[in-house]
Amino acid sequence: MLKISFESFQIPKKGALAVALSSKLSLGKDAKSVDKATHGQIQSYLERKNSKDKLEGPEVVTHAPGIGDVSKIIIFAPQENLVELGGKVAGALLSEKQASISLEGWSAKDAAQLAFGIGLRTWKFDKYLTKEDDRRKLKSITIMVDNPKEAEKAYTEYANILEGVNLTKEVVSEPANVIYPESLAKIAKTLGKHGVKVEIFTQKELHKKGFNAMVGVAQGSVNEARLVVLQWNGGKKSDKPVCIVGKGVTFDSGGISIKPSSKMEEMKWDMGGSGVVLGLLKAIALNKVKANVVGIMGLVENMPSGSAQRPGDIVTSLSGKTIEVINTDAEGRLVLADCLWYAQDRFKPKAMVDLATLTGAVIVALGYRYAGLFSNDPKLLKQIESSSKKVGEKVWNLPLDEEFAKALKADQADIKNSDYGVGAGTITAAQFLECFVNDTPWVHLDIAGTAWASKSSSSFEKGATAFGVRLLYQWIEENYTH
Ligand code: BES
Ligand code: MN
Ligand code: ZN
Repeated sequence: MLKISFESFQIPKKGALAVALSSKLSLGKDAKSVDKATHGQIQSYLERKNSKDKLEGPEVVTHAPGIGDVSKIIIFAPQENLVELGGKVAGALLSEKQASISLEGWSAKDAAQLAFGIGLRTWKFDKYLTKEDDRRKLKSITIMVDNPKEAEKAYTEYANILEGVNLTKEVVSEPANVIYPESLAKIAKTLGKHGVKVEIFTQKELHKKGFNAMVGVAQGSVNEARLVVLQWNGGKKSDKPVCIVGKGVTFDSGGISIKPSSKMEEMKWDMGGSGVVLGLLKAIALNKVKANVVGIMGLVENMPSGSAQRPGDIVTSLSGKTIEVINTDAEGRLVLADCLWYAQDRFKPKAMVDLATLTGAVIVALGYRYAGLFSNDPKLLKQIESSSKKVGEKVWNLPLDEEFAKALKADQADIKNSDYGVGAGTITAAQFLECFVNDTPWVHLDIAGTAWASKSSSSFEKGATAFGVRLLYQWIEENYTH
């Protein structure tokens, strides 16, 4: 893993060197001393540039600085979003083993944000790559600031969030032969050492409690279902918690309504929602956030077999509502039906948020950078939208409407899980979930498009994005701490 340390300025002897200029591209005293050591290469680079007062992003000034074994010099200018800038700077340093970054005149908080962005961009799921060349090269970064002690202190909170984000990325990236309900529950259990209360319910226990919609999905797999309940009690005793519920389908083959083979391998990350719950609770616990937060992970594997659920089966959900299973591939809503009902019934939360890689249709509607956002509560909706803007994990509000709710009506049960004939697959799925939240202020995030990326960005290597961890951390920190 990447090691980030904070030190005072000193011209490095090896690795790459990135130098922050002022927003007008002027050089401070430290930048000038680097320039001098390179015999003026930074200044002459700036003079040669066409647009004199602007950088496109981090730019390489020279691959031959002539300073010891320093491999190259990069310059960059501040921008509004320093986490994003950190990711861009890291992107320019990935080919190096080690690097130094000079942030002359920066505040501790700003330096910490840049460091956070670097951490986000640098993580890579490379544990199964046996050739050194294929693995992440960048191992250590020295950030040079005016007050290293203060910067390090400011970075602690971000470093803890980063640990949560990285845990999410890791479990989402792991294949389904490694991550299945039991093994993921076991990982969740390790949060106990950070002060999280962890409960794990087995399939047998869930069956007994009446989680029939959820267990119905799991019944075709040799890997039995698990429900994980994570409780962080950092708030006042009398405060009702917020509940975060995650879809955790550790592999979604579609079941008897089996999916086509093309891209089926992607369905190993159908537990992305639960992955976010896990990482978020880790971040919250490490930072000892002063709020009461409950995380619920509904873990199943959706497989076809002789014991699998059939299209046409009718199940009585935990809420008492009966569901006709038209399509066994619309399994996420069946899992969440019971988990959402359980969460509101047991914890009476102030607010409940679920995250789910729920529908392919959300990708048609919003693509790969916006999550679909639904809510039954305008105030809560505003909170989430505002936190979303702050961290740059984008959401787009879609409507809930009686018109869509009508389409859920089944002939032989209270509702059906698919075959609505009204289009809008993302909305009908959300509408289905709403039947199980019982007046609790609730937000649903459909992260099917955003949980996994085929292209790298400033905050992730292509693959798992951990979309939602930073958003919900920000939301809780801002609205529910005392
Ligand atoms: N896990 C899928 C949704 C999904 C699709 C996530 C593509 C990421 C990428 C979900 O369980 C599913 O299969 N949904 C169906 C619902 C349909 C059968 C009503 C879908 O979207 O096609
Ligand atoms: Mn499915
Ligand atoms: Zn699914």
